[in-house]
Amino acid sequence: MRSKSSDQLSLAEAKAELKRLAKEIAEHDERYHGQDAPTISDAEYDALRKRNATLEDRFPELVLASSPSKRVGAAPQEKFGKVQHRVPMLSLGNAFEDSDVVEFLGRVRRFLNLPEATEIEVTAEPKIDGLSISLRYENGKLVQAATRGDGAEGENVTANVKTIDDVPEKLTGKAPAVLEVRGEIYMSHKDFAKLNEKQSQDGEKTFANPRNAAAGSLRQLDSSITASRPLRFFAYAWGEAPELPGETQWDVVMGFKKLGFPVNPLMKLCRSSEELLAHYQSIEERRADLGYDIDGVVYKVNRLDWQARLGFVSRSPRWALAHKFAAEKATTVLEGIDVQVGRTGALTPVARLKPVTVGGVVVSNATLHNEDEIARKDLRIGDTVMVQRAGDVIPQIVAVIVEKRPRGAVVYEFPKVCPACGSHAEREERDTGKTDVVRRCTGGLICPAQRVERLKHFASRNAFDIEGLGDKIIEEFYHDGLIQSPSDIFTLAARNERSLKKLKDREGWGEASVKKLFEAIDQRRKIGLDRFIFALGIRHVGDTTARVLARSYGSAEHFRDQMIAASHHDEEAWSELNALDGIGAIVAEAITQFFGEGHNIEVVNELLKHVTPTPLAAVAASSPVSGKTVVFTGALEMMTREEAKSMAERLGAKVAGSVSKKTDLLVAGPGAGSKLKEAEKHGVEVIDEAEWFKRVGEKK
Ligand code: IVH
Repeated sequence: MRSKSSDQLSLAEAKAELKRLAKEIAEHDERYHGQDAPTISDAEYDALRKRNATLEDRFPELVLASSPSKRVGAAPQEKFGKVQHRVPMLSLGNAFEDSDVVEFLGRVRRFLNLPEATEIEVTAEPKIDGLSISLRYENGKLVQAATRGDGAEGENVTANVKTIDDVPEKLTGKAPAVLEVRGEIYMSHKDFAKLNEKQSQDGEKTFANPRNAAAGSLRQLDSSITASRPLRFFAYAWGEAPELPGETQWDVVMGFKKLGFPVNPLMKLCRSSEELLAHYQSIEERRADLGYDIDGVVYKVNRLDWQARLGFVSRSPRWALAHKFAAEKATTVLEGIDVQVGRTGALTPVARLKPVTVGGVVVSNATLHNEDEIARKDLRIGDTVMVQRAGDVIPQIVAVIVEKRPRGAVVYEFPKVCPACGSHAEREERDTGKTDVVRRCTGGLICPAQRVERLKHFASRNAFDIEGLGDKIIEEFYHDGLIQSPSDIFTLAARNERSLKKLKDREGWGEASVKKLFEAIDQRRKIGLDRFIFALGIRHVGDTTARVLARSYGSAEHFRDQMIAASHHDEEAWSELNALDGIGAIVAEAITQFFGEGHNIEVVNELLKHVTPTPLAAVAASSPVSGKTVVFTGALEMMTREEAKSMAERLGAKVAGSVSKKTDLLVAGPGAGSKLKEAEKHGVEVIDEAEWFKRVGEKK
């Protein structure tokens, strides 16, 4: 109860109340705008906002980034800004066996050349199954929060992270000038269950597991939604940190605790592999009672000077190891096999299982991959099967318990026609002479399943990302004839205006939700060219390839025209496409096949009447390597090939796979061979990795 008047409140009390108010109001906003289902009267709502305004008036220094007062009428941001990690966010090497842990310590000892008698201290702590985040503090104040992204570049989610109670906005005690604290954002089992219950009550989509729920909550464009989701945080690592609060892993993490961060209480300092394994076992025993998901134990060499000497192999530190828990298994009954049709016509079998709990999660479906897999396992409906679930991977059937097979169970026969349109379904012959494992519907766009799947893909997260146009709604709109092809999405509002049957009168809809949908659609009338290309759903063109194409062709019209030319065997257009880095024969073939079909060109042309794809922002035009063609060769030690490539591209360079006279720079690691010779022949400048980092001015 808010009994105290605002001028009786202390700073701390006011702060706590403002945080609570932000959350509470955000929840009501979501109910009101998002679900048309308010749970309080307008007067009560106004009173909350008024209280918030009064407190903010009195304590202007406490106004939160997520404050309701900042949101009035404000449209959510287009999308998250990008953040370049000053220190890359790496991953961990995995181990599954006890012997891997012994081997890990052996490797460390050999690398550091330590005598047998020297003790190696190693911390052991749970591996939290959430998502990692990097929090940047300057003079003790949280100034930026970024997701991991590809490790080199993440998304700026500062406003959202500021709504998380576990993350201090100000550090307690003596704060260094700069400190990047890293750790895991996660959701507890309890909060996850509550959220899903609310989601399903509100007719919203539910999340498959706490990890997805945490990720989905953090990646909200409207931070008031994040504020209404109960996210938590554990600190366990750091990025840029010139003044660390300790000289060992243990001391630094304890230092983080003093600065106000939650740290995991199960972290332990161990002195031998026996101790590590004992702690691993004890964590595994407690796993079910922790109240949040973990998927293993992380070991880290305690001494930071040793960590520095050990360094990294590809993307993982030599000084750390993730010891994963074995996948969880359970037995249940295979009740049926459904065959789903994907956007490229692939028929994918899905096992329908008698629901069973595997490691705390109820499983009722499992992936079956393809028909060969079913045949290989001789899976029959009615069989008792062993299912396995590891992390957030889709559960799998690992074995059939043949002794329990019911009498009369028949061999499963995979359909030879598409279950959605009845077209013939076939397995393509590959160039290699092998038949494709995937059976595909040949119906193309006459197949309703393929059309719906293409629409879903079009509106999905990495494509047009249209909020409110999820899979279920697309299915409904498709079946009711409201959206048949992508451009229909953009004429929906105008058609609704003219129509007698209004969207707002549909079940589950209302004035506000329709308005919100139209706004979300309008926001996408301008879209990055890369997303536009990805959204077309061309086989083999994922978001990375789409980005390459967008960068290379610059505009949608030019891309379209060049691809049409290539599909008509224009030699130049075809070879230009094939020469692009990351585009091989199969991808090039798929793209030209797509543009060889009149109906696809029509889809693109129709779309271009309603949307304006924008060229990708020129990247770092001023970097020392921008505009240069770079080749990486030999063993790279400070970064993986992939990381090197994305870094170079981010800095505006073009990465090529082979050296020619057009090459400007060869970055050669140990063991470089033919490319190095080739570079010398052409007089191409050759540098090593360290020089590369020096030149591009990034710290490693
Ligand atoms: S340390 C340089 N400690 O696991 C190493 N990671 O597989 C930095 N994770 O991306 C990571 N719990 O998201 C570390 N206690 C823990 C962790 C942890 C979960 C995640 C983290 C990382 C991934 C690597």
